[in-house]
Amino acid sequence: RLLLIGPPGGGKGTQAKFLVDHFSIPQISTGDMLRENVHNKTLLGKETQKFMKAGKLVPDSVILDMMKNRFSENDCAKGYILDGFPRTIPQAEGLDQLLSHMNQKLDCVVVMDVPDNLIITRLSSRRSCKGCGQVYNLIFEPPGVAGKCNECNEDLYLREDDNPVTIKQRLTVYHEQTAPVINYYSNQGIAKVIDANGSIDEIKTEVLTNIIP
Ligand code: AP5
Repeated sequence: RLLLIGPPGGGKGTQAKFLVDHFSIPQISTGDMLRENVHNKTLLGKETQKFMKAGKLVPDSVILDMMKNRFSENDCAKGYILDGFPRTIPQAEGLDQLLSHMNQKLDCVVVMDVPDNLIITRLSSRRSCKGCGQVYNLIFEPPGVAGKCNECNEDLYLREDDNPVTIKQRLTVYHEQTAPVINYYSNQGIAKVIDANGSIDEIKTEVLTNIIP
């Protein structure tokens, strides 16, 4: 049971995909779950869209209810990779309560350390596939054909919150509300920091050989 924590654009989703393949356990991304709800125009999506668009956090109670339901699904039985949750101290405390009810605990918290100046570049050049959700980067990991997904040939799009103004807001929120969560897990002795400033492959190797027990 792993948790990836780091700034927006820190590479959590990118590395989570490798871990999914390596351990055959699901990636649980609260951001992806919320975007799916927005796309499907569910009540949850309508309630949360304004926070996401503004680069602000969705209220803790909404996230914790969503995660309680997610943990009850069968695919979580063998483990999971948490990506983007918890993001506040109340969420971390809520997660501890959920885990204790399930008789579980986290094995490792991987802290992805990336300087803010790199984040704007990475996120402004990120593109995601409308069809399968595959993530690209116009500078660091471009698709084979401009604007098209290598996997399913669908169009690529720029996320609504990946504009410079909203990226700055997300970074502020990260430093104010999410960075303290790192201390929370350091105090539990399960946080491991990785310099996530290298290439995607270098970080993958580092995580799989030196970080994950
Ligand atoms: P969410 O979707 O979780 O966004 P985020 O945390 O801001 O993270 P990102 O998905 O933007 O980045 P990432 O770290 O996964 O980076 P990636 O691997 O894609 O949340 C969105 C919103 O939902 C929030 O703002 C909030 O409103 C709401 N929300 C979600 N969870 C919530 C919660 N728990 N509580 C409250 N609200 C919540 O990489 C980025 C780019 O860089 C890609 O193009 C990639 O190809 C490239 N890249 C990755 N690694 C490297 C590398 N090493 N070198 C070069 N390029 C790289």
